[in-house]
Amino acid sequence: MEPNPHQARQPKVYLETYGCQMNVADSQTVSAIMRRAGYANAERPEDADVILLNTCAIREHAEERVLGRLGDLARLKHARPEIKLGLLGCMAQHNRAALARKAAYLDLIAGPDSYRRLPELLARAGFDPAVDVRLDRAETYADISPEYPDGVRAYVTIMRGCDKFCAFCVVPYVRGRERSIAPADLMREIRGLAERGVREIVMLGQTVNAYRSGDTDFGAILKMTARIDGIERIRFTSPHPAEMTESAIEAIASEPKVMPHLHLPVQSGSDRILAAMERGYTVKEYLSLVDKVRAAIPGIAISTDIIVGFHGEEDRDFEETLAIMRTVSYDQAFSFKYSVRENTRAYRLGDSVSEEEKGRRIAAVIALQETISLERNRATLGQVFPVLIEGPARRGIGLLAGKTPQFKTAIFPTGDTTRTGETVAVRVESATGHTLTGSILAA
Ligand code: 5AD
Ligand code: SF4
Repeated sequence: MEPNPHQARQPKVYLETYGCQMNVADSQTVSAIMRRAGYANAERPEDADVILLNTCAIREHAEERVLGRLGDLARLKHARPEIKLGLLGCMAQHNRAALARKAAYLDLIAGPDSYRRLPELLARAGFDPAVDVRLDRAETYADISPEYPDGVRAYVTIMRGCDKFCAFCVVPYVRGRERSIAPADLMREIRGLAERGVREIVMLGQTVNAYRSGDTDFGAILKMTARIDGIERIRFTSPHPAEMTESAIEAIASEPKVMPHLHLPVQSGSDRILAAMERGYTVKEYLSLVDKVRAAIPGIAISTDIIVGFHGEEDRDFEETLAIMRTVSYDQAFSFKYSVRENTRAYRLGDSVSEEEKGRRIAAVIALQETISLERNRATLGQVFPVLIEGPARRGIGLLAGKTPQFKTAIFPTGDTTRTGETVAVRVESATGHTLTGSILAA
């Protein structure tokens, strides 16, 4: 039955999100679609008529978490069979067949390109689950303004999908082909956000710097966004090293609103492993890109993603990963144990590194990065950074928190005149590997 907004009790939807920033942004689109169809929000699954999980398939662990949660929700549904339970996102796309078998209580399975049809699919779900996992190379949801939470920062999807097919990665299979949202649609959306008080835009895309719409490339989109009044800071994630063009570097270097922080996933420091991963660059090429970026944008922070224990990774390959971490001296690194994913090119290769060895390697990466982050953060002692205030710090009464241009968290005591959304000058007085602590300079 189609929900009727005029009926006495409005149907309620509860939505839970797993995985990356892109999924968080997709959930905001899903919320907008459900709202249009007459659904109100439920704060807890117990209060909902429809429960949706927006899921991640990037590693096995992400899927296990969702399966665990589904077990809890299945009990709720057992007690109240009229509840509709749906799985959205990458895991829905990836495991549709197994899910329909294993989780027979699911009413809905919908992939990342099927959200527009969610209300119809829910209306159709009956004894058999409604399944829609068609990938649609034209779907961008450009006409649907997402339901953004309040805050100084908003995430805006500028492109969807990925054409890179790195050997380890399931994303191209679950999110489909690369497609970009037209500049006019993006600028309309971002202007609307600026009017609502958003000060910082984070542009999202699986390979965000591969953005292209007609003649407009990623560098041009950065520059167009910088023209919008009210937007003070522009960030983006994640760029691909092989797509880091002159135009993009020039835009970051020349536009003061584009923040000096680059998340540049390296994945491995071994040429042999990079080739097996089909990443499309060598260590030498990656390092020369880092040099070029640092020469063009002094003071830029660089962060990365690292996979340990990819199939075939020997001790000497892993040593090269530690070596590139020292050479680049990353401000931050996110590390992951290799997880074999069905359908990917590396699937048939196997999984030669034991779980224990992956554990040792990831511990070494984390320990090394702690040392490097601490060193780099300590080097900022005494320096002054503009910090966009995001709100109260998570810990510490009377402390505010925000980010420096380099995306480092800064915390500092509240001054009388400071508020969320204001940019203040903060002098760094102490530093850990994760946080800078300081105080606001008198105006
Ligand atoms: N196993 C482990 N890590 C992975 N990533 C992507 N696929 C896998 C996988 N199969 C990591 C990469 C990527 C980040 C988002 O997740 O480092 O940059
Ligand atoms: Fe996955 Fe590679 Fe595409 Fe990133 S660029 S989403 S790692 S296939």
